[in-house]
Amino acid sequence: MSIYLDNAATSHPKPESVYQAVMHAMREIGSSPGRGGHRRSLEAGRLLLQAREAIATLFAIPDSSRIIMTHSTTEALNLALRGVLVPGDHVVTTSMEHNSLMRPLTALRASGVEVTVVRADGTGMVDPDDVRRALRPTTRMVAMAHISNVCGTIQPIDRIGAIAREAGALFLVDAAQSAGSEPIDVIRTGIDLLAAPGHKGLYGPQGTGFLYASPAVHLKPLLQGGTGTSSTAEEQPLTLPDGFEAGTHNMPGIAGLKAGVEFVLEQGVSAIGDKERHLVGSAARRLAELPQVTLYGPSDPALRGGVLSFTVAGTDPAALAFMLDHNHDIAVRAGLHCAPQAHRSLGSFPGGTLRMSPGWFSTGEEIAIFCDAVVECCQL
Ligand SMILES: Cc1ncc(COP(=O)(O)O)c(C=O)c1O
Repeated sequence: MSIYLDNAATSHPKPESVYQAVMHAMREIGSSPGRGGHRRSLEAGRLLLQAREAIATLFAIPDSSRIIMTHSTTEALNLALRGVLVPGDHVVTTSMEHNSLMRPLTALRASGVEVTVVRADGTGMVDPDDVRRALRPTTRMVAMAHISNVCGTIQPIDRIGAIAREAGALFLVDAAQSAGSEPIDVIRTGIDLLAAPGHKGLYGPQGTGFLYASPAVHLKPLLQGGTGTSSTAEEQPLTLPDGFEAGTHNMPGIAGLKAGVEFVLEQGVSAIGDKERHLVGSAARRLAELPQVTLYGPSDPALRGGVLSFTVAGTDPAALAFMLDHNHDIAVRAGLHCAPQAHRSLGSFPGGTLRMSPGWFSTGEEIAIFCDAVVECCQL
């Protein structure tokens, strides 16, 4: 039995409706929105609008035209950071961030943007009071992940969003590990910028993602080019969303994303999150019985999303991942998970951890097989 427990990287398998939607877009539509007056192009335009509307429903976004389709969370984060910050601005972020947020900030630092990194505690949790203490009069943005991709810690974004709002700073949330499995309401939490993948918890294909920008945000586009609109203008139009989606859309991907979001809406975000939490919890309980195993992240299951990281004394995480793959056909991820500073906070730098991340289609039986395989590989 082939077992996939790397849904934090990208979800697999996808719902059947997603595969069908991708094929339908490729075989039956085959055209691009705004790139012609013919019926196929109009149908592609309708599909794009419906995908935005489905995303808007899921995240309680009042105006779907403020959803910009991207190719990944990384692109969405780059647009949110580079499209807003100017030299002299100050940003508060955390030690739990993925390189897709940290590296653009590092590049922006070189051009005069100031960055304060608030350190999380040993369970990966960020203290909202530390964020408050890091604020300056020039703080333009608080930027952070909702759920850690390393150890699953769910950050108190409601409280941190309120702190950002009080300070007049924009609040950017990286929902790479929470979109689809943890309820998010952009208005209630005061999220000005929401960056999310289409290909993880929304069950769309790889090559999809989006950025939501609230009316408080004045964005600069990352790319200039054809938008299918305002064609007489020599300069890039700044209308949302078209001005920020230059180039031909990934319509097969967007069609699949629409089907994936509809699937999530049908199952219910809380049901998906509860199932992942249950599976992660059963693995955590079993592994915690082994004295050689160290689990990372919060011990309270209510504070953890669908990610579990651990190490086994005397076994390199990369070697364990290799054995699980080759001897047991189980796909997991080992190492630093593109978030080196997070491991410094957790105490797992530089060796990293072994990370398992179930999805909606994972089963209790698979988790039991995974735990048995860890015991066998490590000869525990
Ligand atoms: C917390 C976090 N942010 C950003 C990303 C980047 O996502 P993408 O691969 O969609 O660019 C990931 C991917 O694993 C992630 O876990």
